[in-house]
Amino acid sequence: MSKKKLIAGNWKMNGSVAANDALVRAVIAGMGAADDCTVAVCVPAPYLAQLQMLRAGSALELGAQDVSAQEQGAYTGEVSAAMLKDFGARYALVGHSERRQYHGETDALVADKAKAALAHGITPIVCVGETLAEREAGRTEEVVKRQLAAVIHTNGHCISEIAVAYEPVWAIGTGKTATPQEAQQVHAVLRAQLHAATAHADRVAILYGGSMNAANAASLLAQADIDGGLIGGASLKAPDFLQIIAAARLQRD
Ligand code: PGA
Repeated sequence: MSKKKLIAGNWKMNGSVAANDALVRAVIAGMGAADDCTVAVCVPAPYLAQLQMLRAGSALELGAQDVSAQEQGAYTGEVSAAMLKDFGARYALVGHSERRQYHGETDALVADKAKAALAHGITPIVCVGETLAEREAGRTEEVVKRQLAAVIHTNGHCISEIAVAYEPVWAIGTGKTATPQEAQQVHAVLRAQLHAATAHADRVAILYGGSMNAANAASLLAQADIDGGLIGGASLKAPDFLQIIAAARLQRD
């Protein structure tokens, strides 16, 4: 039996109090106990309190989409790891390509964010991935290794406590997915890099993200080093998200 998969939804900047209520109730009802698969939703910060209430008594885990690298103080607009913890968050995305691209987040900042999350018992889901131009230039491995190396360098022996999401930028929100073989190849590179840094590399969940959907989830999740998925668009529709969760569960049979 393979290890328990992690299926994390990334709502991005979507949702409303009414829409979240309907979506989360449907997901919780559909997923049941989910003891054979960990399910989380990474929601916009203002909805953490709503989610904390909605998920009470269920197996649904909560995550944020970003976290400040700073502990507290004069950082207008930032949300600290301690604040996320206050609302029961177990995960925080760090270094999503949209943050790197639109907010200028560097490898060093992403590494510091991962450190801040870990210091508060939150699992950072460190996102890495190459652009189309980088892939076409044959630079995929170099790029993802550089991105992960910064996080390893800053976090030392704690590195076994992170999760990683390999998200090829060209596959995000485009309907184009890496083939299971292409994804596995990069996941194997990341796993080897983690093995070189920690004796517990097998503990690290390496998720695939980028247009994962109900139709392609099973073949991606069947790959040896794909431990789950980070799902954007399809996590906003309960039936689609539930089908991905069902595909992850099948891998445990
Ligand atoms: P997508 O987004 O599933 O809509 O491609 C994935 C992500 O950006 O995390």
